[in-house]
Amino acid sequence: MINDGPLRVSSGVHWVGVNDTETKLFEGLWEIPEGVSYNSYLVIGSEKSALIDSVSKLKEREHLDKIGSLINPSKIDYIILNHMEPDHTSTVPKILEFSSNAKVVLSPIALNIFKNFYRLESETVVVKGDDVKIDLGGKTLRFIQSPWLHWPDTMCTYLVEEKMLFSCDAFGSFKRLPNGSVMDSDIENIDQYMDGASRKYFAGVFSGQREWVLKAVKKIEDLDIEIRVLAPSHGPVYSVNVKEIIIRWLSWSRPNYVKKVVVPFGSMYGMTAKFVEPIIEGIEEAGGKAITFNLSEKPPIDVLAEMLDAPALLIGTPTYEREIFPKVKQLLNLLELKKLSDRSVGVFGSFGWSGEAPRKLAEQLAVLGFRLVGNPLAVIGRPTQEDLKKAKELAKTIAETAFLERGLQ
Ligand SMILES: Cc1cc2nc3c(=O)[nH]c(=O)nc-3n(C[C@H](O)[C@H](O)[C@H](O)COP(=O)(O)O)c2cc1C
Ligand SMILES: [Fe+2]
Ligand SMILES: [Fe+2]
Repeated sequence: MINDGPLRVSSGVHWVGVNDTETKLFEGLWEIPEGVSYNSYLVIGSEKSALIDSVSKLKEREHLDKIGSLINPSKIDYIILNHMEPDHTSTVPKILEFSSNAKVVLSPIALNIFKNFYRLESETVVVKGDDVKIDLGGKTLRFIQSPWLHWPDTMCTYLVEEKMLFSCDAFGSFKRLPNGSVMDSDIENIDQYMDGASRKYFAGVFSGQREWVLKAVKKIEDLDIEIRVLAPSHGPVYSVNVKEIIIRWLSWSRPNYVKKVVVPFGSMYGMTAKFVEPIIEGIEEAGGKAITFNLSEKPPIDVLAEMLDAPALLIGTPTYEREIFPKVKQLLNLLELKKLSDRSVGVFGSFGWSGEAPRKLAEQLAVLGFRLVGNPLAVIGRPTQEDLKKAKELAKTIAETAFLERGLQ
């Protein structure tokens, strides 16, 4: 069966989303070699119907066709926008051309963004607080404010009768959905999917919002809202692994550290890279696992994903125009934006003549809140045996310090 039509989620709830394997960079930033899905859901009650989130404009035709195969679009009563990011809203102006009676349901902050993004007048229902409900006839939608999941505008929609939570970006994944089903039970090796595609998505899109994930999960618990089905707007719909995906998102948000050290490095001609082998040895001697990344070969999102539960990192940079190597500088910028600084860190690097980069990197890491362990290891040209020994010792010290600090024995 090919993924060319709407797919059933449960009685009266249909997936009318799309897969996108054309976009190279999600948000113009994150590599998505396996694509991504934009999930949109049509909920049809005995009296009324509602569309929950839409999709990227890139797939407007396909989205409209799927809706049209289930319902005359003029019969859509509500378009619920949980979050205004254009990957979930940019087909709305077109949908409104066909569904001119539909009311757009959104939070007060989303209303402002909606007006500024699309500059159109439409009837709206502005949802404040957590008690607003819309009855579609045997299907009751309740709205729960969930700010910063992923923007300040965000809310979730809860289908009361089915105990189904439409969480928009939260609990989402990269990776296109398989053909024929959107359910987690139909995904081969769902554990790997959650640990890979969802973790990477969390790292890139959500890691700066960790405290809000914790707050939202607590709020759902406090409101006594049971989630039987979790239907995000990217990736699979969870009915079997609801707890499992929530536990993962909580563990990345808290975080739950493990005995590993991430070693991202830049290296133009392999001089700085020579330190990596003894660094791995040092980390392993301390009982940890070393995860290394040549930043010229791997995208920074891979580093962020590994850093979620790593208590330490060792960063390598050659000196480049008297500065930190640009690929390392980019990672530094992302670590700052995603607030991933509460960790032990060490620095190493080769240089040709002036050698400013390791010191500058160490200074900038300290400003961000990293705890610098040892002195930056800056070596002119090719590292000697003595230099390599120092790298191993530095790595071992960093790993031991970080593991001790986090109670990882
Ligand atoms: C474009 C360019 C600019 C460089 N700028 C500096 C510099 O300002 N100061 C310095 O000490 N070395 C500089 N170097 C030399 C490198 O830092 C040196 O070759 C180092 O060993 C490279 O390590 P790698 O092979 O790990 O990249 C520069 C090299 C290149 C290619
Ligand atoms: Fe978003
Ligand atoms: Fe999104």
